[in-house]
Amino acid sequence: MMSLIDRILSPRSSSRDGARTLRVGIAGLGTVGAAVVRMIERRSAALAAATGCTVRVTAVSARDAKRDRGIDLSGFTWFDDPVALARSEEVDCVVELVGGSEGAAKEIVEAALAVGKHVVTANKALLAHHGNALAKMAEARGVSLAYEASVAGGIPVIKAIREGLAGNAVSRVYGIMNGTCNYILSRMEAEGLTFEACLKDAQALGYAEADPTFDVEGFDTAHKLAILTSLVFGVEIDVEGVSVEGISAIQPLDLTMADELGYRIKLLGVAQATEAGIEQRVHPTMVPKATAIAQVMGVTNAVTIDADAVGELTLIGPGAGGDATASAVVADIADVAAGLVRPTFGKPVARLAAPRRVEMQRHEGGYYVRLTVHDRTGVAAGVATRMAEREISIESIVQRRSAKAASIDPHGLSRQPVPLVLITYAATEGNIRAALDAIAADGLLAEAPQLIRIERE
Ligand SMILES: NC(=O)c1ccc[n+]([C@@H]2O[C@H](COP(=O)([O-])OP(=O)(O)OC[C@H]3O[C@@H](n4cnc5c(N)ncnc54)[C@H](OP(=O)(O)O)[C@@H]3O)[C@@H](O)[C@H]2O)c1
Repeated sequence: MMSLIDRILSPRSSSRDGARTLRVGIAGLGTVGAAVVRMIERRSAALAAATGCTVRVTAVSARDAKRDRGIDLSGFTWFDDPVALARSEEVDCVVELVGGSEGAAKEIVEAALAVGKHVVTANKALLAHHGNALAKMAEARGVSLAYEASVAGGIPVIKAIREGLAGNAVSRVYGIMNGTCNYILSRMEAEGLTFEACLKDAQALGYAEADPTFDVEGFDTAHKLAILTSLVFGVEIDVEGVSVEGISAIQPLDLTMADELGYRIKLLGVAQATEAGIEQRVHPTMVPKATAIAQVMGVTNAVTIDADAVGELTLIGPGAGGDATASAVVADIADVAAGLVRPTFGKPVARLAAPRRVEMQRHEGGYYVRLTVHDRTGVAAGVATRMAEREISIESIVQRRSAKAASIDPHGLSRQPVPLVLITYAATEGNIRAALDAIAADGLLAEAPQLIRIERE
């Protein structure tokens, strides 16, 4: 009789001649699910040759059995109930492409793992919130819980980190992991448009949801970052420990100033090892124009990994879309077909450390600070003094006053507020915020300040 491990390591031998077949059940036939069905059909011979195992879709499930999905479902068993699919005897590997951290997706994955079936998913929300418990279940049954598609869609970043960089110590990983935000920021920069105008276009083009909060306020990136952090630093997933700030407060002027100062603004997710612990942060970030990540425009995603042996490695590619995401899902299915079962987050669950969180106040780095100040003599000096009191060194300072205003009103008596932009050398966030509070208390500001962190190479 086959042991559990033998059975897991060698997908079912279901034909008489002993050739192995992996029977795949797909729950969710939307953008990604339908593309996965098509890709498995299209690549069936190549997958068999590469894995030594025939990959065959046997069962599918979605909400609406009648919807035309542009694929022939007649050869598959249809399940109205995706949990029944997950438990079905005719399925060895369950592919969850329903989405969401609770409800059907969670029930499907839990049911499949509970009966010892491999799971492949693209669901970052589920992993970010329940990844630790699900990894434990997978490990207890000796099955795979694979999730390449959950971070940066078609970019094989999970495999790159877990397998390709196994010999490296990684000190930082950061990336553009939300195409909607990068599309909006790219258009704002190229065309000088407002955030609101670009969001509307993104919605019209299908890049943004009707409720865009999840994307533009950074939560989607936070889910992906939490997964990468676990994998890179060998810690349990801690999505609550991610400090999150979205892009809705970015103004066209910030992009113009960034450009003049040699930067671009990107929504980055950054996980970084520091002496105090692991920083996990998502926020609009100034990146030097010469860096690889600064070149990434539109809906494209990119992830940069700082590793000791290879140095800085940047992977760039499509972060979404049916085919691109299916590419990652099918790569995971191929691993299962080949009999590869890896610890979910790179190590056995018991060896994942509890993450040591670092408060944002302790973050140390350079800052872009845009102040809207009253246009009067001595304001810049007053700002510089408050910064100096907290040992914040200023790398550059730009004060804007239109030539027209200056010629009509050389002494600034009309007191129209003007922008004053500073780039600081490395300082702690706590000190920067304290300096800004002091500047506000001095009555120098006409509006709340804008603060954007700088990520250097
Ligand atoms: N789209 C992308 O580019 C992309 C990229 C990376 C990761 N992902 C992830 O991939 C997953 C799927 O995304 P998607 O864009 O393909 O979503 P989608 O187009 O909305 O498809 C979701 C599918 O799930 C089915 N479904 C929903 N609730 C169900 C239930 N209770 N029981 C059975 N089926 C149910 C839907 O059925 P009906 O069709 O009958 O309504 C639909 O087929 C999500 O986790 C997403 O975050 C997507």
